[in-house]
Amino acid sequence: MIICSSLSDLEQAISSLSNDCKIGLVPTMGALHQGHISLVKTAFQYTDTVIVTIFVNPVQFNNPDDLKRYPRTVEADCKMLEEANATIAFIPSVEDIYPEPDTREFDLGGLDSVGEGPRRPGHFNGVAKIVTRLFDLTKPTYAFFGEKDFQQLAIIKYFTQKLGYPPEIVPCPIFREEDGLAMSSRNRLLNPEQRKAAPAIYKALSDAARLAGQRELTPVELIDITIKEINNTPQLNTEYVEIVNSLTLQPVTRWEEAVEVQMWVAVFAGEIRLIDNIKLK
Ligand code: PAJ
Repeated sequence: MIICSSLSDLEQAISSLSNDCKIGLVPTMGALHQGHISLVKTAFQYTDTVIVTIFVNPVQFNNPDDLKRYPRTVEADCKMLEEANATIAFIPSVEDIYPEPDTREFDLGGLDSVGEGPRRPGHFNGVAKIVTRLFDLTKPTYAFFGEKDFQQLAIIKYFTQKLGYPPEIVPCPIFREEDGLAMSSRNRLLNPEQRKAAPAIYKALSDAARLAGQRELTPVELIDITIKEINNTPQLNTEYVEIVNSLTLQPVTRWEEAVEVQMWVAVFAGEIRLIDNIKLK
């Protein structure tokens, strides 16, 4: 694996690749876990040249404390990527990525008007800045993103197509701990009690998916049940539960409104904010 810590390293590494190779890009913010590695493994099913980027993107953090405490474990990350056989690890500095302030405002098609959008103003615009920058720098044929961040994936698909960027966006399924907790870099910030409580989030989502199949409940009632179930767990506090059309991301009030329906949640365990989602229909 070639480790590139600057733009010139990256340029050099890419120019050493054969001309006809197809690049698979896996963008991350580091503090890698098996969820990230599952993306790398999927990438190798598409191509044998995989670039993994590690960059804690300051412009997508709307909460300075969240940015400050975001875990940084570059050495361990490189070891995991080496074991996963990644071709290139690109670990740029903030100056490399943003030599001057990036003032672009992206059209996100209103997909940021729900879920994380209103709760994290500017977040998805910041994601669009880094993802397009990485597309420009690495020129991938494929780019891999997790369904763990369901809304992020939809928004990335949207602006990639809208702006005419070439890569095929490949969705990758949520990778979970054995107890159901969706893997996340933030999980390592949980104290033991919070960690013990956190699987209740997926349990509540799974219960909702079962109940949705029975169809006696309206989406609003199901949201209510899910919030109560999560909040009944000590340590956990729901920020929101929403049921949306999986394609338009707009809230669904009657099951008939959409062919595919997703439930997504944001939950606080103390100060740590966890998100998860599940397909209901
Ligand atoms: P990060 O949270 O590090 O996640 C990097 C990629 O890994 C994202 O596509 C995310 O959806 C995926 N991922 C994380 N946990 C996962 C899990 N348990 N199962 C499957 N996939 C998982 O998402 C970001 O970084 C950033 O916003 C980024 C896209 C890199 C832009 O800065």
